[in-house]
Amino acid sequence: MPNTAAPVAVSPLSDRLLAMSESATIAMAKKGRELAAKGVDVINLSFGEPDFQTPQYIKDAAKKALDDGYTFYTPVPGIPELRQAICDKLKRDNQLDFQPSQIVVSTGAKQALANAVLSLVNPGDEVIVFSPYWVSYEEMVKLAGGVAVPLVGTREHDYKATAAQLEAAITPRTKLIMYSSPCNPTGAVFSREELGAIAEVLARHPQVYALADEIYEYINFVGEHVSLAQFPAVADRVITVNGFSKGYAMTGWRLGYLAARQDIATACDKMQGQITSGTCSITQRAGVAALAGGRASSDEMAAAYRRRRDLVLELVKDIPGLDTPTPSGAFYIFPEVSAFFGRTAPDGSTIRNSSDLALFILNDAHVSAVSGEAFGAPECMRFSTAAADEKLVEAFRRIKASLAKLA
Ligand SMILES: Cc1ncc(COP(=O)(O)O)c(C=O)c1O
Repeated sequence: MPNTAAPVAVSPLSDRLLAMSESATIAMAKKGRELAAKGVDVINLSFGEPDFQTPQYIKDAAKKALDDGYTFYTPVPGIPELRQAICDKLKRDNQLDFQPSQIVVSTGAKQALANAVLSLVNPGDEVIVFSPYWVSYEEMVKLAGGVAVPLVGTREHDYKATAAQLEAAITPRTKLIMYSSPCNPTGAVFSREELGAIAEVLARHPQVYALADEIYEYINFVGEHVSLAQFPAVADRVITVNGFSKGYAMTGWRLGYLAARQDIATACDKMQGQITSGTCSITQRAGVAALAGGRASSDEMAAAYRRRRDLVLELVKDIPGLDTPTPSGAFYIFPEVSAFFGRTAPDGSTIRNSSDLALFILNDAHVSAVSGEAFGAPECMRFSTAAADEKLVEAFRRIKASLAKLA
C-alpha cells in the first residue's frame, strides 16, 4: 500500500541531539575547506592537528601487523601487549602504578573521555570544567545529562583555574572536574604546586572525581609534566586520559586510553563494549611500537612546535590588538581579541564578537581560526601553530593586513 501519511512536521531527532552543539573546530575547518574547494588559497589554523607524518617505525609496525594477519576483533579494552606497554609508559614517565586491567584503550582520547563521563555522571550531576576548555567537554557532560559548570581562569593566572576557585565552586552535586594540561586552547601547564593545591581541595570532597586530560603531555616547553594521579590523597579518584594523536602525530589512527581505579576502568570497558568495541587492531599494534620507540620522535616534533610558537609570538607582537599569553605547551596561541569588537568591516558590517571576527578573518585573510566562544572564552580566538613556518608567516601577514581594515 502506498504511504499516504502526511510528512512529519516535527524533527525526528532526539532532544539529546538537538541540545548538542556541533564541534566548532570541525565546523570552522569545514568552512575553510568549502572556500578552498572554490579555488581560494586557505591557510587552515583551525584544526588541532600535527602537520607531521606519523614516524616511519610506527607505520612499519602497522604494515607488519596487516601482513601478520591482525585483522580480527580485539578485546574491548585493548590487546594485552598494548595495555602492558601503557602501564610501562605510565610508570616510566609519570611514576604511576597501574595493572593492565586498569587500562581501557579507546578510539582516540575523545572516546576515553566520553566513556568516563558517561560512566560517572548522572542526570543533574555538576561537572566543573576548567575554562577555557576543550570544545567537547561541555557537550559530553550535556550528553550524560549533567550540568557543566565552567570555572574560569583569569588572564593574570594564564587562564588557569586556582584551588581557591575550585573550593568555592564545589557543591554537594559536584561529581567530577575536567581539565587538560597542557591546555587546549591556552597552552597553559599546571605546575606541581598548583595541582598539589587542587589535590588538597579534592581530598576534602570525597564525592568528587577528576578527569585529567594529558593528551598534550609530550608537547611541553616548560619541562615538568605533572599528573594529578601522582598525589596519593586523590589518586584513586583520578581518571588519567592520554593518547597517541598529538605526541606521535597519529590523529587519523584513532588511539587513546584511560587509566583508572579498577571499578571505573571496568565500567568504561562495559560502556565501550556496547558502543564501538575495541579500536582498530592494526592501530593497536602500531601503538605498541610507538611506545616501544620511546619519546625520541615526539621530542623532535615538540622542539619544532616550540620554535614555531616562538616564531608566531614574534609575528603577533607586530599586530596591534592581539593580546597573546605565552603558551607553555600544546600547539596553539589563544590571544584576546576583544579590542576588535564593535569595529566596522569594509562591507559595513560590525564585528560584534569573536565568531564574527573569525569569519571576517576567514573571508578576508583566507585563514581559518576558531572563535574563543567554543572554548568558553568569548573574548579570545584560537590559532593553531602546527603548520609549516612559511605558512605561519604568510597567515599572520594576511591577518595583520585584514585586521588593519577594521575601522
Ligand atoms: C584536549 C584534547 N583532548 C582530547 C582530544 C582528542 O584526541 P584524540 O584524537 O585522541 O581523540 C583532543 C584533540 O583535539 C584535545 O585537544
